[in-house]
Amino acid sequence: MSGSPPVIRLRGAGRRFGSHEALRDLDLTVRPGERVAVLGTSGAGKSTLLALLNGSLEPTTGIVEVFGENLARLTSSRRRPLQRRIGSVSQDLALIEQVRVLHNVNAGRLGRWSTTRALASLIWPHSLGVVRDALDSVDLGWALHERTERLSGGERQRVAIARLLVQAPDLVVADEPVANLDPVRAAGILGLLAASPTVRTLVVSLHQPALAREHCTRVVGLRQGRIVLDHAAADVDDAALDALYALA
Ligand SMILES: Nc1ncnc2c1ncn2[C@@H]1O[C@H](COP(=O)(O)OP(=O)(O)O)[C@@H](O)[C@H]1O
Ligand SMILES: [Mg+2]
Repeated sequence: MSGSPPVIRLRGAGRRFGSHEALRDLDLTVRPGERVAVLGTSGAGKSTLLALLNGSLEPTTGIVEVFGENLARLTSSRRRPLQRRIGSVSQDLALIEQVRVLHNVNAGRLGRWSTTRALASLIWPHSLGVVRDALDSVDLGWALHERTERLSGGERQRVAIARLLVQAPDLVVADEPVANLDPVRAAGILGLLAASPTVRTLVVSLHQPALAREHCTRVVGLRQGRIVLDHAAADVDDAALDALYALA
């Protein structure tokens, strides 16, 4: 796999917000098939890094390439098809509240559908079987016809995962996708994402190092906006994690 072209390549990438440097001088190459966990304390820069990867933020220094393209350099019409190959779960789940769960899951495919087909699907949902399978896999088969706004925080998080599975993207960028889940469900959902053959490459931020070590192939640790740890998951020991999370 080390010979295949990278899915992600960051070279000296940094991001500032005003005078605050949220990320500095990141070099990172991720190849197809990798499952990369991004760890670090709150404020370390995890969400900012993931936003650079899916193109929702641009770097203020350096270069971010995804699928071999510098997203910031592309016109929006050339960037859009690339972004469709990226499935994102962000901390705000971006679900449509007033519609039934099945429509939110189906939205994973909207990018690939014509507007007419997408609109028609609100009345006659397409491929209900695919949606049902995705919901079953996150233990939400019962919620197919529920209104999304009725679901709990953890259930909504699982709807966002089902939407992602239906999208079958080449790259999944998931920002704390299991943060609101109980430990057993968190392990189940992360295991599902990491093992899913439709998720080609995964970058996921987590607050639970044990989950990272169990389900991911590689651990990247951020501290004050810098990469301070980048190892195969099997090689990450407690001392490295203690240093990553040490106060001040
Ligand atoms: N839109 C923004 N405007 C200003 N500061 C921001 C913005 N987004 C993030 N930051 C700052 O950048 C740093 C990294 O934030 P973030 O990437 O959200 O960290 P994490 O996800 O690891 O908790 C924090 O100090 C945060 O306050
Ligand atoms: Mg965050």
